[in-house]
Amino acid sequence: MKIVCIGGGPAGLYFGLLMKKLDPAHEIVVVERNKPYDTFGWGVVFSDATMENMRAWDRKTADEIEQAFNHWDDIELRFKGRRMRSGGHGFVGIGRKRLLNILQARCEELGVRLEFEREADSDADFPDADLVIASDGINSKVRTRHAEVFRPDIVVRPNRYIWLGTDRLYDAFTFDFQRTEHGWFQAHVYKFDERTSTFIVECPETVWRAHGLDRADAQQSIAFCERLFADNLQGQPLRSNARHLRGSAWLNFQRVVCEQWWLRNEHGSHVVLMGDAVHTAHFAIGSGTKLALEDAIELTRRFEQAGGGAERIAQVLAAYQDARRIETLRIQNAAWNAMEWFEVCGARYCDQLEPEQFMYSMLTRSQRISHENLRLRDRAWLEGYERWFAQRQPQVGEASSATAPATAPAPTSAPDSSTASGIAPPMLTPFRVRSLELKNRVVVSPMAQYSCVDGVPGEYHLVHLGARAMGGAALVMVEMTCTSPDARITPGCPGLWNDEQRDAWKRIVDWVHEHTDAAIGMQLGHAGPKGSTNEPWAGDGAERPLPAHNWPLVSASALAYEPGVSAVPRALNHAEMLRIRDDFVAATRRAAEAGFDWLELHCAHGYLLSAFISPLTNHRDDEYGGSLANRLRYPLEVFTAMRAAWPAERPMSVRISAHDWVEGGITPADAVEIARAFKAAGADLIDCSSGQVSPQQRPTYGRMYQTPFADRIRQEAGIATIAVGAFGAADHVNSIIAAGRADLCAIGRPHLANPAWTLIELAKIGVGAVAWPRTYERAKSQLETGFAREKAAAASTAAPASMPHLPPQRREAAT
Ligand SMILES: Cc1cc2nc3c(=O)[nH]c(=O)nc-3n(C[C@H](O)[C@H](O)[C@H](O)COP(=O)(O)OP(=O)(O)OC[C@H]3O[C@@H](n4cnc5c(N)ncnc54)[C@H](O)[C@@H]3O)c2cc1C
Ligand SMILES: Cc1cc2nc3c(=O)[nH]c(=O)nc-3n(C[C@H](O)[C@H](O)[C@H](O)COP(=O)(O)O)c2cc1C
Repeated sequence: MKIVCIGGGPAGLYFGLLMKKLDPAHEIVVVERNKPYDTFGWGVVFSDATMENMRAWDRKTADEIEQAFNHWDDIELRFKGRRMRSGGHGFVGIGRKRLLNILQARCEELGVRLEFEREADSDADFPDADLVIASDGINSKVRTRHAEVFRPDIVVRPNRYIWLGTDRLYDAFTFDFQRTEHGWFQAHVYKFDERTSTFIVECPETVWRAHGLDRADAQQSIAFCERLFADNLQGQPLRSNARHLRGSAWLNFQRVVCEQWWLRNEHGSHVVLMGDAVHTAHFAIGSGTKLALEDAIELTRRFEQAGGGAERIAQVLAAYQDARRIETLRIQNAAWNAMEWFEVCGARYCDQLEPEQFMYSMLTRSQRISHENLRLRDRAWLEGYERWFAQRQPQVGEASSATAPATAPAPTSAPDSSTASGIAPPMLTPFRVRSLELKNRVVVSPMAQYSCVDGVPGEYHLVHLGARAMGGAALVMVEMTCTSPDARITPGCPGLWNDEQRDAWKRIVDWVHEHTDAAIGMQLGHAGPKGSTNEPWAGDGAERPLPAHNWPLVSASALAYEPGVSAVPRALNHAEMLRIRDDFVAATRRAAEAGFDWLELHCAHGYLLSAFISPLTNHRDDEYGGSLANRLRYPLEVFTAMRAAWPAERPMSVRISAHDWVEGGITPADAVEIARAFKAAGADLIDCSSGQVSPQQRPTYGRMYQTPFADRIRQEAGIATIAVGAFGAADHVNSIIAAGRADLCAIGRPHLANPAWTLIELAKIGVGAVAWPRTYERAKSQLETGFAREKAAAASTAAPASMPHLPPQRREAAT
């Protein structure tokens, strides 16, 4: 085959040498516009796992890189005068120049032709090539030329960064945060050879402009950074080697994703994108070079599997695209989280979190490194952090001594101390809100069961809620309970509009208090435009209007939830709004009489109060419509009246849809304002759900996908939050609570599948220090032993034969 690689960066050079090694008959040329051994940049990092992969494909290159690279384990944080370290992170750093020189020399040795100082205009410059590799970097001309086929999506990010170097040597990957009068800057620093360290300085665009750095040339920018990080640099200068850059040396990161990775051009040559030309990963995760090298490996692997040969190129390229697209998206998602963390840290974390928690938050920024993963990396550090966290005793709202908390003492077994460390993991730390102490941070999320007759909860609810109250969660939330018959979603919804319902609830609450140490909370709501529908299990009619006995719907405006399908509600007049507010208050009193420990107002998911808040569903032209403040007016009036009727020592939360996921709807920034307004009205926590306001919604689902809303609201509005949505394991809860992204985690569907979710999940991660119902105690140690055996068996088979010397966390990507 005749192969041309346009661009002699890591992708082009490594692919060239691997293919030549695979079949020396291939005619391979790498075309590079720079001079030989002339490149820009300082050090790059990648993980031990990438090295292992490279060793399997070309031992000689890997050995040379290994001799040249710097390996280090620690991450150090310099923040507010403190220096903190954690270990076990496993990075490899090498000068970009050194890396390219090794690859260039190996190419020459194997017979790959290197043509330097040749700028290729396009793939069409090589009409007789069978295969053109577009490894021409982030501003790929080849990608631009065929943009209609490759369909690149390029997002320019708001932060500014400058890539500098220094002779000062660091023995850890160092992050340094400095506050200025205009905002925070951070430096990412790592040594990459015996003389030099990379020193990347980053800040938000607004901070950058406020300091006049948009008007500064490279030398002025360097002088600014030297002053800012003077303590850290200890007199050593910073240097730029970006000679090719004109004007400001400060860049914006561009995230590149392409839908299609290959094509056949007008000369019949196959053209394929590789490396930064097809995908970029932010330096916060240090994976750009790793991805470029792994692209080269994967394409070579596919040619090897296909048995070489120009006739199979299309098939090989399709297989390469399928395999690499998924893997790179995975890395890009993690890189995106890490990048966003650095973009918002100045506004959201630096001033809000204590240094210990700031460090934890930074280490888990990509959300790929979890609590248990940190334990594998550095057990001593994590246990120190767990100890620090456990000693903090958060108190939300004033603890009133007027009335005793509603929860009764627990008939549970005493917790044992069978965890190795004996320290409670973050999810098991208690949480006090007003006079209620929750035993841990897990909540059973409210979940409609549609199983009442005339709104009265019966045996079904006693069993359903009772089982979940025995399952280890600290708080069991009852499903949305309606304030009047016409406030129901379905005829099966529970209610609190009469005393019979109150007494039926009291029986359940009493049972929970008598037999468990869980608290139990009531969620009050009004279905509004989404009322009078069938239960979800009604086949084709599910969640559609009832076939008969419908009740008239009301809402903020006369807008059907699903036009043409849902009934059209009537816009409420003021007198009706007062009547509904009073219904909420009456139900609040009944909830207090029934003994509930907690009250939540449902302002989410397109129901009545949510329909007032969202501009998609509120088109009113009175004082309850228009601006966000106006749209919040009615939900706040309802909340304020309820708060006055609800005992002062008991907590209240508000569930909101923090994102409508529709253009023109509520955004996470609005959600911060909504949270501030409810906080001012006396809410203790915001329960951060999203969506279900419009059938047009386009949510981005994924593990813990709503947690960023809880995080943002908690830090920016300064109110405690409940995170909810797609938690799969105790490890997720521990990570979120420990990082301060939320105060409580509500778990929904997993609790439908398993009432004892909390107890089982804790047993899985080997935490024995949790009380089980004393009647179930005999099952506890048996379960724990079983999980411990499974874990030991998995560990003994997990280590690949080639990497037995590395701990598991180091076989994964570095950050
Ligand atoms: C500040 C910063 C820090 C980074 N840190 C890391 C890190 O720690 N770890 C990491 O893995 N990655 C890091 N990267 C990313 C890394 O540099 C790239 O992801 C990686 O080099 C991609 O390799 P590539 O071969 O695809 O592209 P490049 O390395 O960009 O190579 C492309 C080559 O093509 C040449 N070229 C372009 N157009 C033409 C043309 N028309 N004709 C001929 N030649 C052409 C260019 O001169 C260049 O040599 C960082 C990037 C930045 C900006
Ligand atoms: C069957 C079912 C019923 C639900 N009913 C309610 C409800 O009554 N009130 C409410 O606020 N959320 C309700 N939700 C949403 C859940 O409380 C939770 O936010 C959602 O399921 C996401 O969490 P998960 O991924 O842990 O399931 C319901 C969810 C399910 C699956």
